Parts: sequence; C-alpha cells; structure tokens
Amino acid sequence: MKQKRVHIVTMGCQMNVYDSEQMLRLLAPLNYRPTSQQDKADLILLNTCSIREKAEHKVYSFLGRLVRMKRLRPDLILGVGGCVAQQEGYRLVKRAPHIDIVFGTFALGRLPSLVRQVEDQKKQIVDVDPRGASEPLCVKGPVFAAGRATAFVTIMQGCDHFCTYCVVPYVRGREVSRRPEEILEEIRLLVENGIREVTLIGQNVNAYGQKNGHGCDFPALLERVNDIEGLRRIRFTTSHPKDLSDRLIEAFRRLDKLAPHIHLPVQSGSDRVLRLMNRGYSRDYYLKKVAKLRNVRPDIAITSDIIVGFSGEEKVDFEATVDLVRQVGFDSLFLFKYSDRPNVPAAKFSNKVPEALKGERFSTLLEVQGGVTLKKNKALVGTTQEVLVEGLSKKSPNQLTGRTPCNKIANFTDGALGMARVGRILPVRIVEAFSHSLLGHPVGKGHGEYPGKNGGMSHAA
Ligand code: 5AD
Ligand code: SF4
Repeated sequence: MKQKRVHIVTMGCQMNVYDSEQMLRLLAPLNYRPTSQQDKADLILLNTCSIREKAEHKVYSFLGRLVRMKRLRPDLILGVGGCVAQQEGYRLVKRAPHIDIVFGTFALGRLPSLVRQVEDQKKQIVDVDPRGASEPLCVKGPVFAAGRATAFVTIMQGCDHFCTYCVVPYVRGREVSRRPEEILEEIRLLVENGIREVTLIGQNVNAYGQKNGHGCDFPALLERVNDIEGLRRIRFTTSHPKDLSDRLIEAFRRLDKLAPHIHLPVQSGSDRVLRLMNRGYSRDYYLKKVAKLRNVRPDIAITSDIIVGFSGEEKVDFEATVDLVRQVGFDSLFLFKYSDRPNVPAAKFSNKVPEALKGERFSTLLEVQGGVTLKKNKALVGTTQEVLVEGLSKKSPNQLTGRTPCNKIANFTDGALGMARVGRILPVRIVEAFSHSLLGHPVGKGHGEYPGKNGGMSHAA
C-alpha cells in the first residue's frame, strides 16, 4: 500500500491535542504517517475549537488560506473535525465548499472509514451524528512519544454543568468516563515509551467515574495512577470548584507523584455574576477551597480562568473580581473577554457589556495579575527546583526547557548532555525570573538526578 502523509493542525485545548494524537493512531492502519509539512501532505486535518468567538474565526481564516492549495492539488483531502465541525456541520461545507470531510467530536472513531470513502469515491461527507457518545474512544495503536517526557491522557469527556456561557455540553456532550483499566494501561504504555509525566484531562476531571459506575472515582483513580512504576509526575486539568471534594484535596498531601499545582477556574469574583453564569458556587465557597488546598499543600500553585465583560457585569462586579484576584494571589491567570456562542443561554441575556469596556477590564486585570505573577516567580530566585526536562527551548536552542513541580517553565543551559536529559528530573538553581518563565543552572555533582519522589521546592542555603 502506498505510504501517505497526514498533517494535523490542532486548535484549542489539551482535549484536542489528545484527539489529534488519536487521529494519527486511527489513520496508521490506512498507511498515513504524520508530517509537519503541510505542502507534503496527502491529507490535512484541522482539529477545531469553538469555545470562544475568536477561536472560531481562526478556523475560517485557516480554511480560507487552503482554498488555493486545494485548487492546485485537487487530490489533497481536507478534513475538519472537533467542536466547530460538531457545531456547524453542513453550514461549514456551505461556507467552505473545498472541505472534503466534516467530522464532529462524536465521529472521531469513524474517521478512517470517512477518509476511505473520500479516497475511493471522491465525495464530500458530513458526519455530525452524536452516536458513539456513550463511551469515550479508546484507540489502540502506535504511541507517538519519541523524544517526549510528558503526555496528555483523556480520562473523561463532556460536561453536565451547563454554565450559561459555555458550548461544551452541546459540542462535546454529557459527561462520560473511560474505564480505569484502559486509562492505566495507556499510561503504562506511555511510561514504557519514555513518558515521565502525565496530565489527566477532561472538561471536569473531578466528575470522573461519578456516573458510569466503573467503581472508581477521581481520587481513587489518582491513587492507582500514583502506583505506576516509572511514572514520576501526575497533573490533571480541568477542575470545577463545585466538584472539588475534600478527598481530592487530601490527595495533594498523600500522593507523592501528584504535582503541587491545580487549575481551578473561578470565572468571576462576584456572587451575582457567578449566579448568572450558573456556576453553582459562591465567592466565599471558592476562597474556602483555596484555603483548604493551601492548608494541605502550602507550596501549591493555583491558576484560574476568568471571563471579563459577561452580560450584566457591572462595575461593582468587576471590582469584586479584581479584589478576589488580589486576595487569592494566583500563580497565573487565563483571561477571556466574554463572547456570545451559538445556542448558549447567555447569548440571549440583555445588558451586554460594550467591547471597549471589556477591553478596559481585561487590561486592568492583566496588569494586576502580571504584577502578582512576577512577584511569585521572583520569590523563586535562589531556590533549587526539580525540573523535568522536556527538550530544547524554543526561544534559545542552546538551552534546555522543562517545568518545575508547580508547572512553571524553567530554562537552563546544560552543554554536556543536551537532549540526552529529556525525561530526567534535575535540580536547577533559579537565578532569574520573568513573567512567563524562570532561568537557572543545574546544580550538584554531574547534575545528579533527583530520586523517584516528587517533593516541592527546596530552598538553597
Ligand atoms: N466567552 C468567553 N470565555 C469563555 N470561556 C468559555 N466560554 C466562554 C465564552 N463564551 C472561557 C472560560 C473557560 C475557558 C476554557 O474559556 O473561562 O474556563
Ligand atoms: Fe463549560 Fe466548564 Fe461550565 Fe462545563 S463546567 S459548562 S466545560 S465552563
């Protein structure tokens, strides 16, 4: 069979990164091998995101750029998958008729048969059928882990929360969890292939196992992952504050591989806005969860998502958010300007915040948080951090890059062994701190590796 090339462009969250890898696995039996060069590909797949308006615009501008390529090479197969595909379906091919395949989030497992149909019959196909949503896809196949130390593993998909601004429950469906045995087997295989850190992902990982009756909830799953030999670090994302149980908080004390970092989206610091968003918790509840986490693990890094300019957000509400941001002292924040999404309840809310005001609020929070992040990073200068080496730094190829337990990027020079160190945890003395990264030097005799455990940070004498 002729060897063919597939190029995948991934937009959006880690769920999509994971799904793109599944696509590669699914297409391997059809003799498709991955290529990073778009112009060498026989098949180009775009894995899309529709969470915010801006993400969706990106999809259409990317598709626009491919019109010419498709005209010059009519045999090129162009597929669009992911959340925009699920949401737009036939509208997508109307707007971009050069697309060959539209495959929604539930059609991922059917991708090989869709590609085969296009190869054989040269017809255009749209598959947004929600069948296949009852069990998350589990693809057996080659592991693409070469030269990597970290990997994402999807443990659940979908969401039952229905926050009023969010498309996820519509484009990804309701919560479904993978079987624990499947997850553990996948992680073991990754570890055999050199992976040292896994991030367990899902729209709301805390809800893992609550509905499916696999007899294992999220803290129990973490415990089983913690027992996997050769694995050094565990991370997870994303957590809904409402489902953050005391048992899960306790896991940060008990599990030696669980890295001291949690991404806990708060979205707003105003109780009124939280109610409008249907978040199901109050500001006070959130602050109590933060206090509990810090009590159990004082060095824990906490990051969050905030939406500014949600419909109905008044000046006092925004001020409450700024106040919460100051009070919590997040390690970093992802800020978003609210945008209406198709069919979500908030799209019909009145009292829309003007774009200019959203921009002002965004800048204000960015500045407040920027100061906090930098201060927190600077406090690490002089400490020695356990850095899991991930590879060469993108900005300075003579440096290696990795992450500290608290998930901060640390770059350092290490001429001697270079890439041979990928996957090792090295003690790195931090000498400089910036807004988005730390700079350091490996310390110790021969830059010795840390033993198996993943403690927090240690202060240098
Ligand atoms: N507008 C702006 N931000 C949004 N998010 C989700 N939906 C919207 C929307 N309609 C943000 C939330 C979520 C993150 C992934 O994206 O903050 O946590
Ligand atoms: Fe969307 Fe997260 Fe709310 Fe679920 S919990 S509806 S994924 S914002």
